[in-house]
Amino acid sequence: MYDVQNRIIRNLSALEEHFIPSRLLHREGQLEAIRDDLQPLINRRDMRDVFLYGRPGTGKTCMARYVVEELKKHASVKSCYVNCWHNSSRFRVLYSILERMGEVLAIHRKGIPTDELLDILRSRLKAGHCIVILDEVDKLEEEGILYDLTEMERIGLILIANNPEVFFDIDARIRSRLMAMDNIEFPSYTAIELADILKDRAELGLLPNAIEKRQIEAIAEMAGGDARIAIDIMRISAEDAESRDLDRIGDNLLAKALPRIKEKDLEKAVMALNEHQRVLLGIVKARQTAKASDLYEEYGKKVSEAGIKAANGRTLRKYMEVLVGMKMIGASGEGRWREYSING
Ligand SMILES: Nc1ncnc2c1ncn2[C@@H]1O[C@H](COP(=O)(O)OP(=O)(O)O)[C@@H](O)[C@H]1O
Ligand SMILES: [Mg+2]
Repeated sequence: MYDVQNRIIRNLSALEEHFIPSRLLHREGQLEAIRDDLQPLINRRDMRDVFLYGRPGTGKTCMARYVVEELKKHASVKSCYVNCWHNSSRFRVLYSILERMGEVLAIHRKGIPTDELLDILRSRLKAGHCIVILDEVDKLEEEGILYDLTEMERIGLILIANNPEVFFDIDARIRSRLMAMDNIEFPSYTAIELADILKDRAELGLLPNAIEKRQIEAIAEMAGGDARIAIDIMRISAEDAESRDLDRIGDNLLAKALPRIKEKDLEKAVMALNEHQRVLLGIVKARQTAKASDLYEEYGKKVSEAGIKAANGRTLRKYMEVLVGMKMIGASGEGRWREYSING
């Protein structure tokens, strides 16, 4: 949609996070590998499951969606995307898969046993294959679902996580299945690669002369290898320039965008924490540093005071690693010697 009054923005949606571009730059190797893994689906055979890993903003989510959309032009398969951050239980994952397969579940969410969902899914898969993208799979709270899904016929899995080590301490049965997947790394982008990605996006999203090549290069340097941050900087500064009625993006607007993004990201992350994670984060914040054993002891007291049912030790360790992964807290040492501290 071209708005004649706009001076900066040609198409805002091309600058938004969920936009899937028509080409993915600097990801040829990964693209070919995943295409090969999915290829058997064209002949109605099972695909090889894949595991995509790499830091945020390395193109994992967009690659998964891109390849699946591409394949669907040649094969009759269903597909569904589930973000495990918002659907972290076995029940929620199954429910989301069925929902996205177009299954109308008349029964109230809570009213149906999980095993029944598995049966429904199994019977629906008799009709053909389904590719399931499980994004942010490191946020799953019940990893057993991975076992259920790898067991099931005619399901192809694309798992996505930031950290390749997510599956190290899970059930050996599940782990061995995951090890057999095609593990594909998504390294952080270099500034030069990011500048290429930004140039494509600027052409789609911005009007001519709204941004200079030099500014695109500056954004690429600022973004720390993260394409999402790079594109966000461009979008936010473009919106800012547009609202000020400028006819080009000023350098000062670029510099202002990054802190705003960081602030918003942190807010979003905190909002998404569960009550146990909030308690844990609160304790580390109050103490500045805390040994794992002391932390869990104080956690136990706090939740019992609040009338919350305490999570078990393994779950707590996992919650802590999520907080570390999100850089809300730092950690050093291993096992019982692990010590957590507040960042910055
Ligand atoms: N190689 C690429 N070419 C074009 N756009 C890309 C590329 N890699 C990432 N992007 C864009 O950058 C943003 C972040 O990518 P995303 O797939 O969400 O990263 P991740 O899932 O690894 O955090 C998305 O808007 C995506 O479209
Ligand atoms: Mg992603």
